Amino acid sequence: MKHFLKETDFSFHEIAEIFARALDFKKTRLGGSPPLLKNQTWAMLFYKSSTRTRVSFEVGINELDGNALYLDKSNMQLSRGETIADTAQILSRYVHGLIIRAYDHEIVEEFARHGSISVINALTDFLHPCQIYSDAFTMAEHWSDTAKLDSLRERKLAFLGDCAGNMANSWILAASLFGLRLALAGPEEFAPCSKIQELLNKEGSENNFTFTNDPSEAVLEADVVYTDVWTSMGDEEEAELRSEKMTPYAVTAELLGTAKPDALFMHCLPAHPGQEVTQEVLDSPKSIIFDQAENRLHVQKAILAALVEANRH
Ligand code: CP
Ligand code: NVA
Repeated sequence: MKHFLKETDFSFHEIAEIFARALDFKKTRLGGSPPLLKNQTWAMLFYKSSTRTRVSFEVGINELDGNALYLDKSNMQLSRGETIADTAQILSRYVHGLIIRAYDHEIVEEFARHGSISVINALTDFLHPCQIYSDAFTMAEHWSDTAKLDSLRERKLAFLGDCAGNMANSWILAASLFGLRLALAGPEEFAPCSKIQELLNKEGSENNFTFTNDPSEAVLEADVVYTDVWTSMGDEEEAELRSEKMTPYAVTAELLGTAKPDALFMHCLPAHPGQEVTQEVLDSPKSIIFDQAENRLHVQKAILAALVEANRH
């Protein structure tokens, strides 16, 4: 059974195919999409809040002629102690695939291990692979008429703020996969974590990233300046400390001005204007935040299609 739990679950070549299909879905959306999920129901189990991920998956599944079933963990028996092992096996008897947003990454891995259906990681504390594929597609679309994944090679992406969070981890994993040069900048307390380094080592991936405490060093000559919230879902108790430490890493128009003249500003959203990024930057012509959000739909439809096809073989 094919799962999508982390960026490297598809090869470079397979991701390039996902991008080609996503571009086709995007261009032909008005005329309708092929019924690739006909007679299928995909459950969407959320332990955390969501706007983009939930809506884009639900709409995407419907457009591929499938049924999307939203499940809120808080009112399932899971919240009263039913095991993940049992829940995974039971859901596998009803539905054809499972999209999960959870806290510990081990939760999605456990569902994948015990169930007999495809599992998609819709964000964990460790990784957010659906976001990364959509963001990489958004860059590729910007730099190449045909959204070629190759167009990312040797580009410099500066990531500012929480360098130990799910988005930073995902970019670290993706940088070696896509051939991006990733320059992370953040406070020492939020430097890249050992868990992502262990995963890189385990997969035999090279380190395509640098880490500095100096935001201007990271942003200098960058093709993309990327940031995320300083306090992720689940980290709320540390909000004050994080805000204090990360204030020097806020993306301002002045800082963005030191990147390449045609640099892009990106953010997975939701944003907190006035914290990790100014409203001026969010509204600037360099900002492609809404293209990123839109592309979640097209790219996730292509991921669903790739999983369904992989499971046929
Ligand atoms: N970027 C993202 O995953 O947004 P949601 O939390 O709204 O799904
Ligand atoms: N790092 C953020 C991403 C939200 C899409 C969080 O986990 O809350």
